[in-house]
Amino acid sequence: MPPFLKYDKRLRAAVLVSGGGSNLQALLNAQKSGLLKSAEISLTVSSSADAYALKRAAEAGVKTYVLQEEDYLNNGFFNKTGYSANLLSILAKNQIQIVVLAGFLVILGEPLLSAYKNKIINVHPSLIPSFCGDGFYGLYVHEAALKKGVKITGATVHFVNDVTDGGEILMQKAVDVKQGDTPETLQRRVMEEAEWVILPQALEALCASLILQKKDL
Ligand code: GRF
Repeated sequence: MPPFLKYDKRLRAAVLVSGGGSNLQALLNAQKSGLLKSAEISLTVSSSADAYALKRAAEAGVKTYVLQEEDYLNNGFFNKTGYSANLLSILAKNQIQIVVLAGFLVILGEPLLSAYKNKIINVHPSLIPSFCGDGFYGLYVHEAALKKGVKITGATVHFVNDVTDGGEILMQKAVDVKQGDTPETLQRRVMEEAEWVILPQALEALCASLILQKKDL
């Protein structure tokens, strides 16, 4: 898409992944079904070369890039600034306007967060502010929900800022906890009934509103 067409009908989105990519698949399916019409998934960046999400992207014809988290680990210390700066360069080179974290496990920082302020969204597998923040990811979230005995959980799509899972909430969807649920069965239900539904919806709503407002993207 020509870069000068700033306000055409679809924004260029990058989806950041680390693992299975089921949320990426939900976005790809939404694009194919026409639900996602204000964004095009132009790039997938994975923090792991082994992520099955890369296969999903390739099968959909989406350009992929691997920026390995382990390449920025020195003696157990993660170089967040270095990783974020290189990621920003990749996104800029691909004229990316919106960033979606979909099962992405790397904590991002400056200069990326300022460059894409209110243009990075994340899907978290709980109803924030419950069971979120440092250490709450993947199955750990559902283990904590079951341990607490909540009867309702769900998923949240929120803006990404410098506080883990701390950005403004865009959308949430509740899911019942069922008798006998394990972390695995609960995770599956939250993904199927909540994450895979609200992530495409939230991305479409955000991009449609940005286009409508003709915000300087
Ligand atoms: C899952 O735990 C999901 O709840 C969370 O990230 C993990 C992997 O998601 N959002 P995905 O299948 O890689 O999208």
